[in-house]
Amino acid sequence: MKVLIVGDGARENAIASSLSSKYKVYAFSSYVNPGIKEVVQRTEGEYLVGEIEPAQIRDAISKVNPDMGIIGPEEPLFHGVSDEFRKEGIPVFGASKNNARIEESKVWARSLMWKYGIPGRLRYKAFQSIEEAAEFISRYGGSLAVKPAGQAGGKGVKVIADIQAYLSKEKREAMAKSVNEIGTYYNKEGEPKIIVEEKVDGPEYTLHVLSDGNTLLPLPLAQDYKNAYQDGIGPETGGMGSVSGPMELLPFISKEEYEETFEIIKQTISAIEKETGEKYNGAIAGQMMLTGLWGPTVIEYYSRFGDPEAAAIIPRIKDDFGDLVEKTATGHLNKAKVEVDERASLVWTVSPLGYPLDRKMASNHRISVDVKKIREIGCEVFFGSVSLEDGFLVTKGSRALELVCLGDLNESRAKLTKSISWIGADTELIYRTDIGSTMEEQIQKAEVVRYTYTSRRKKGFLGASADWSPNGGLW
Ligand SMILES: Nc1ncnc2c1ncn2[C@@H]1O[C@H](COP(=O)(O)OP(=O)(O)O)[C@@H](O)[C@H]1O
Ligand SMILES: [Mg+2]
Repeated sequence: MKVLIVGDGARENAIASSLSSKYKVYAFSSYVNPGIKEVVQRTEGEYLVGEIEPAQIRDAISKVNPDMGIIGPEEPLFHGVSDEFRKEGIPVFGASKNNARIEESKVWARSLMWKYGIPGRLRYKAFQSIEEAAEFISRYGGSLAVKPAGQAGGKGVKVIADIQAYLSKEKREAMAKSVNEIGTYYNKEGEPKIIVEEKVDGPEYTLHVLSDGNTLLPLPLAQDYKNAYQDGIGPETGGMGSVSGPMELLPFISKEEYEETFEIIKQTISAIEKETGEKYNGAIAGQMMLTGLWGPTVIEYYSRFGDPEAAAIIPRIKDDFGDLVEKTATGHLNKAKVEVDERASLVWTVSPLGYPLDRKMASNHRISVDVKKIREIGCEVFFGSVSLEDGFLVTKGSRALELVCLGDLNESRAKLTKSISWIGADTELIYRTDIGSTMEEQIQKAEVVRYTYTSRRKKGFLGASADWSPNGGLW
C-alpha cells in the first residue's frame, strides 16, 4: 500500500516510523528529513521535495498515485492540502480546510463553543482594530489573555495578570504598543485581528483524539513545555519537550477529568461537522487547562498532532499505530482499539543556539547524531529541522531533534542525558533537562483548582464569570 506523507518535522518522522513494512512510504516535504528518508528507503518508496502547497501536492499525487495520504502540520491543512487527496477519492488522514478552522481561527473556535454550549468555554471578545482592543482592555477590571485572533505559530500571546497595574499613562501606552504588536501577527482580510479572553490558571495538558468521521478514539494525555529555557523561562517556542503517561493519564489529571475532556472534544467535533457540513477526518486535540472556573477548560484546539506531543504519544501505542492512521483515513475506527504502554514517556527537543528568536543564528550548522548508540541506551530519535545535504546533516533554524524514552521519568532523564552525549554540532545545542520534573508542583496546583471547580459545580456555578468588574457587563 502506497502512503504519501506530507510535512518535514519530527512529528512526521514519528508518524512515518510508526508505519509497518506493509506500507511503501513516499514523502513530500520542503527539505530531506533524514529520519523520514530512512523510512522511505527501507520501504522502497520515494522522497519528493517541494513547497507544501495545494498545486505541488496535486502534482505529487498524480506522480505517486498513493492509496492514502497523511498530512502532519497545520499550515498545509489551512490551505486545503488534504482536500486535494479527497478530490481524487484518496483516503487521507488530515482535517479538511474548512474543519481546520477550529485551529486556524481562535475566534471561530470560541464562537462555536458558545453557540453549542460546549463546557470549558471562556468569555472572549474579538476586535477588528487594535485601538478598540486596547480601549476594552484598559476598561477591564480583572485579568486577561490577549492573543492574535488567528494561528500565529505561538507568537504574541500575552497574559495580563492585573489590568489595574496597566492603568497609569505609561503603562497604558506600553500596553497599546504590545497589543499593536500582537495585531501584526494575524492580518487576514476582513477577520478580527485580536481576541481578548478571560484569564484562567491551572496546569496545562493536551488530549488528542482520532476521528474518522463516525468514530472517535481518544489517545493518552500529553503535556508540552513551551518556554525556551529551564524552569519555564524565556520566549515561547513550538515546544521544548513533552511528557505522556503513565497509563492514559498524567499524574495530575484524574480519570474523570480525562473523560470530561474527551466529552468536550466529542461535542466540538459534532459542532464543527454541523457548521461545515464536512466529516472530521484526522487528529484533533484540545490544548487544555484544568481551572477552578470549569475543571477541564479549552485554551485552544489543534487540527492535527501536536509537536512534540506526537513524539511522546506515538511510541506508547502498543498496537500498530500505522494501522490506526489507516483506519482513521478510511473510516474504520469502529474496528480499532488503542492499547497503551503503561510506561510514561519523556521527550526532549534539541535545538541549535539562537532558536527561537534568531533563526539565522540557528541555521546552517553541521550536526551529527549516533542513532545506533542512542537506541542502545534505550531511547529513540526523531529528526526535525535538519536536512540531509550531500551526506551531511545541516540545521534549518528550528528544533533539530526530538529524543524520546519510555519508563520511569527519572530513569528516562538519565538515559536522555547520556543520549545527548552522542550528538555533536559545530554550535551550542539547547535543551531543557527539567521536562517532567515538576509533577509534584503540578499535582498540588491541580488539587487547588479541583477543590474550586468541584465546589462551583455543587453550587451550579460552573463557568460563571470569575472576574467581577466595577464597570460591569463588559463581555
Ligand atoms: N485565557 C487564558 N488564560 C490563561 N492563560 C492563557 C490563556 N490563553 C492562553 N494562555 C497561555 O498562553 C499560552 C499560549 O496560548 P494559546 O492560546 O495556546 O496560543 P498559541 O497559538 O500561541 O499556542 C497557553 O499555553 C497558556 O499558557
Ligand atoms: Mg497553544
